[in-house]
Amino acid sequence: MQTALIGLGHHGQKTYLPVLQKSPGIKLVGVCDRDSTKLEDVIGGLNKYTSYRELFEKERLDFIVVATSHDAYPEIVVCAAEKGIHILKEKPFARTVEEGKFLQKIAEKNEVICPAYTFYATATPLFFTGAVPVLVDSDESGNINPLLIEKKITSNTKAILITHMWGNPCAMNQITDFAKKHQLLLIEDGSHAHGAEYHKKKAGTFGDLAIFSLQGQKTLTGGEGGFVLTPSDEFYYRAILMGHYNKRCLQEIPRNHPLYDFGVTGMGLKLRIHPLSAAIANEQLNHLDDVLFKRREMAKKMISSLGQLPGIRPPQISPHANPSWYAMVFQFDNTKLEGLSLKRFHDALIAEGCKELDLPTSTRPLNLLPLFQKPEVIFPKYQGKIQYAPGDFPIAESFYQNAFKLPVWHEQMDVETVYQYVNAFEKVINHYKELL
Ligand SMILES: Cc1ncc(COP(=O)(O)O)c(C=O)c1O
Repeated sequence: MQTALIGLGHHGQKTYLPVLQKSPGIKLVGVCDRDSTKLEDVIGGLNKYTSYRELFEKERLDFIVVATSHDAYPEIVVCAAEKGIHILKEKPFARTVEEGKFLQKIAEKNEVICPAYTFYATATPLFFTGAVPVLVDSDESGNINPLLIEKKITSNTKAILITHMWGNPCAMNQITDFAKKHQLLLIEDGSHAHGAEYHKKKAGTFGDLAIFSLQGQKTLTGGEGGFVLTPSDEFYYRAILMGHYNKRCLQEIPRNHPLYDFGVTGMGLKLRIHPLSAAIANEQLNHLDDVLFKRREMAKKMISSLGQLPGIRPPQISPHANPSWYAMVFQFDNTKLEGLSLKRFHDALIAEGCKELDLPTSTRPLNLLPLFQKPEVIFPKYQGKIQYAPGDFPIAESFYQNAFKLPVWHEQMDVETVYQYVNAFEKVINHYKELL
């Protein structure tokens, strides 16, 4: 743990400094005192600072030991807490109830459990709320690993947010149990999963809120736009206030509800869907079951043909899941193909005419995105709160690096296309040695 000592008075120098220097597991990286003469006597190759702000800026710290007079202490605490640095203090944390409440408020943060592997928009709206996305690695299916969720729950956790990746439902029974047990909100991103089912229950109906994109490529689409599902009146009224203003707010929020007063302006955002998009999506809803039926038939054909080829692992589907097949994402296993690169494999298939074969790159583990590595550049309030880095989520990263994606076609005429793709895949795999 990277540590710094602030305050080199008697206790700082005589008690904390030697202990910190000797403690296993602690790496003392810096010392700070506003009196520079006190820094002169400190030995041992430590970085020395007269300003704690400079210390926080220059060092990556896990925790600080504060041994200053109490007067200097609150502002150091505020600064450290905002950066997410833990604090050990020699004297009581607060001298008055007011001071205690003030400090408690600083330390509070809302955390939301999110999948490490998802499209960024699942989690990025959190940056506008101040809540911290706490990412959780995937399992081999690419969905959030339910077994890792509970380990990430803290007293700050407010919600669990999951995405049914590529239309393959997450392990919702387990996830719903965690949410209930820890009294957390459960939010589903169903943008890939219109009509998908888990234990015969539709994606989007497990939790407190579900959001669905209707963007152009989605199984149910309005070109752009999206919708929210919720069993809660309270969330429904808030969603109306976020999307609309005036008429619909005033018509749908009951007059005696405290949110009615905000009806004229809503939340001031006006994020509603274009009515034409809503009408297009609404019309498509009538055909969704038919489309899903045909996609599921096509998916069976694709898995039984492509999924058996050497070097290709089919999607992992739970026996309780009935996916919507927004797309079919295979894993490329080059150990069966003498280390052939996915890029070479992909290029060869494109050359064979598989133009819709895709290596999905915008959907990538969130820790690989600058917005999750240094959000503070755009959202200053996130200074020190999140510092995700490559390597943080090995399963999600491996899934992403080896993923290739095909559409799941659903028209009768597309059956022929599937056979053409299967022929092309067989040809490339049979001749893989020529690509090495
Ligand atoms: C999983 C997921 N969540 C959210 C979104 C965002 O949807 P929209 O583009 O409608 O804002 C997408 C879009 O592709 C998505 O795939």
